[in-house]
Amino acid sequence: MNQNVLIIGATSGIAEAVARHFAEQGARLFLVARNSEKLQAISADLVARGALEVATFVMNANETDRIPQMTDAAWKVHGTIDVALVAHGTLPDQQRTETNIAYAIAEFRTNAESVIACLAALAQRMEPQGKGVLAVIGSVAGDRGRPGNYLYGAAKAALDTYASGLRARLFKSGVHVLIIKPGFVATAMTVDLNLPARLTATPDRVACDIQLAIAKRRDVLYTPWFWYWIMLIIRWIPAAIFKRMKL
Ligand SMILES: NC(=O)c1ccc[n+]([C@@H]2O[C@H](COP(=O)([O-])OP(=O)(O)OC[C@H]3O[C@@H](n4cnc5c(N)ncnc54)[C@H](OP(=O)(O)O)[C@@H]3O)[C@@H](O)[C@H]2O)c1
Repeated sequence: MNQNVLIIGATSGIAEAVARHFAEQGARLFLVARNSEKLQAISADLVARGALEVATFVMNANETDRIPQMTDAAWKVHGTIDVALVAHGTLPDQQRTETNIAYAIAEFRTNAESVIACLAALAQRMEPQGKGVLAVIGSVAGDRGRPGNYLYGAAKAALDTYASGLRARLFKSGVHVLIIKPGFVATAMTVDLNLPARLTATPDRVACDIQLAIAKRRDVLYTPWFWYWIMLIIRWIPAAIFKRMKL
């Protein structure tokens, strides 16, 4: 069956890879992003790959008062949404967050508050449908605060807790909530980082896992799979040792 798929942060490397998979299956897409030019280029590519229909909506996710306008437009175009994915995010400069509090708060807003605002608005529309998957991209960074990125990690941890509560709230309605926790992924976000090649996945690899997790109604996805075991060990390290480690 052709699915109706809504993606917020559709110009993200991971989201674009997910959208390609859905396009190849003949989905109808509703793409939301802040950069109109990139959005148009991605839309044209997705139509060429087999998407039945691609509608777009330009929105900066921090303009949370525009979110109801966006959901109204999506439901007007597609009637129902089978899959909604909230993907937008930034990787803050941790050192800057330690001295510039306004910057830290703005980054927290982008990575946590605006995402929660999107999830809340999508839940309002999906609950009466009685079906659908609401997916959000968190991160393994949300599993434990590290000195190198704990502002980002704290925002992703907020999403984890929010998704857990939302999942339990929506369970009876038939709407499923999935949180996706990628490890290192080679996208624009990480292009300047010196990531270990063996632990760094392509967006396409992660997108395959995401599509399968959506189809199987998984609650939590670590992608690639080995991050589940890495984070299990990291979470179990006692605080007295963890604080002495160079991470
Ligand atoms: N790459 C990794 O290693 C990794 C690991 C774990 C989790 N993640 C998460 O995966 C998600 C996707 O990231 P990515 O790796 O695909 O990186 P990316 O290609 O840099 O994508 C980030 C996306 O977020 C959008 N965005 C940022 N601020 C926004 C705002 N205020 N309003 C609307 N859109 C905004 C960007 O829009 P523009 O195109 O306009 O800049 C871009 O589309 C993020 O939530 C990220 O935290 C990534």
